[in-house]
Amino acid sequence: MHAYIPRVLRVGLFLLLLVFSLAIFFMTNKNTQTVRILAIRSLTDTAVGLSAAADNALRSIGQDASEIRAVLSDRVVAYALVAERNGHIRFHTNPHLVHTKLSDQEVERWIRSGTVTNRRIVLGTGVPAYEFNFIMYRPQGPPEMLRLVLHTTAVDQTIKQAERIWWITGPMIALLWIMGILFERFFTYRFRLHTELENQRRLSLIGQMTATLAHEIRNALGSVKGYAQWLEKKAETPGPQKDALDAIVKGALRIELLVQELLLYSKEELYHLESFEAAPLIQEAVIAAAADWPGNIQLDIDPRTTIRADREKLYRVMVNGIKNALDAMGQSGHLAISSDHSSRRVIIRIEDTGTGLSDQDNDRLFMPFYTTKTDGTGLGLAYAKKVVEGMAGSIQLTNRAGGRGAVLTIALPKGKVK
Ligand SMILES: Nc1ncnc2c1ncn2[C@@H]1O[C@H](COP(=O)(O)OP(=O)(O)OP(=O)(O)O)[C@@H](O)[C@H]1O
Ligand SMILES: [Mg+2]
Repeated sequence: MHAYIPRVLRVGLFLLLLVFSLAIFFMTNKNTQTVRILAIRSLTDTAVGLSAAADNALRSIGQDASEIRAVLSDRVVAYALVAERNGHIRFHTNPHLVHTKLSDQEVERWIRSGTVTNRRIVLGTGVPAYEFNFIMYRPQGPPEMLRLVLHTTAVDQTIKQAERIWWITGPMIALLWIMGILFERFFTYRFRLHTELENQRRLSLIGQMTATLAHEIRNALGSVKGYAQWLEKKAETPGPQKDALDAIVKGALRIELLVQELLLYSKEELYHLESFEAAPLIQEAVIAAAADWPGNIQLDIDPRTTIRADREKLYRVMVNGIKNALDAMGQSGHLAISSDHSSRRVIIRIEDTGTGLSDQDNDRLFMPFYTTKTDGTGLGLAYAKKVVEGMAGSIQLTNRAGGRGAVLTIALPKGKVK
């Protein structure tokens, strides 16, 4: 599987979810809007119908307004009135308000505009309503205004009911995204698992091949080295022949060391985990790696620090870490080894005042065969990473925060105190 597949899938999934969510959102919005428009239109139709019926009846208003009252007695009508241009109310469904006055300017201005107007209002009682204003042209006399105010309770209920669909579509959109995210997480997890497994399989195959090869080389090298040493001993007088044999022996010893390290790195590790005190092991490693180093060594290990690890492997990791630090410093400098068991794990630090690390080094430090030394194999840190992680720990090499040099930090599980 290619590495870009999860990214393509993620983008595809995101776009799909976006399209679905937008489609659901727009459809729901459109539906509620349509219901709102239809509800208002039904109210308008009622008003127009009532106004037409009222128009005929109102022409005959003079002495008797009972006919128009009958027309406007519909339950949907909150109130209705007919006003002259000057605002004088000629008719009102509430007989007490007949002959009172509206704001005359308002009626005058509106009649001049010559259009039907409608708007939402709230009655004095706090009840919502819809107000329609119609112009009534009379055969004799100036035009008048017919105002119909209709209750909107039923219409508002219909609209509210339609809007309730959001209670379904909202959670639906949320659920869609949650499912999408869960699917993505699951797929990414499976993909990572698959990739890791494939890498492990490949590495183990390479490891097996390397181990076989190293084994064969070591056997063949044994006789080359043995014969060269034998011949060197036989050539008593110094001369070019002895020098050449000496070079062969040295070369063979170097290859032997490399092959040994390679075998060590590529073999499948068996861990003998036990709890033990860290201080003696670290002291031993310092003696082995830095006994005749002329620089300054500072050991700061709490004797109560106990670690759970494989002794022999940790010893090798420590020796390599100390040797690396000394190589980076040359013949002088300050080597500080400390431990900290205050957190969940034991942290061992090997600090030096050497050359430090360059930015390019960082990615490759723990890769097999990465070395900047002429006599290095580049397997020290690769082996350290392999076994420290194999012992449920972690390892990192960084530049020292407070000045020149580097720090190798090894974290390992705490041991059980006996
Ligand atoms: N303390 C350090 N300061 C600066 N560079 C370091 C330090 N430790 C490691 N390195 C760099 O990391 C490289 C890899 O180290 P590693 O121990 O894997 O191999 P090596 O020391 O080169 O060879 P070998 O361990 O076989 O002798 C080193 O060559 C060096 O460049
Ligand atoms: Mg090394």
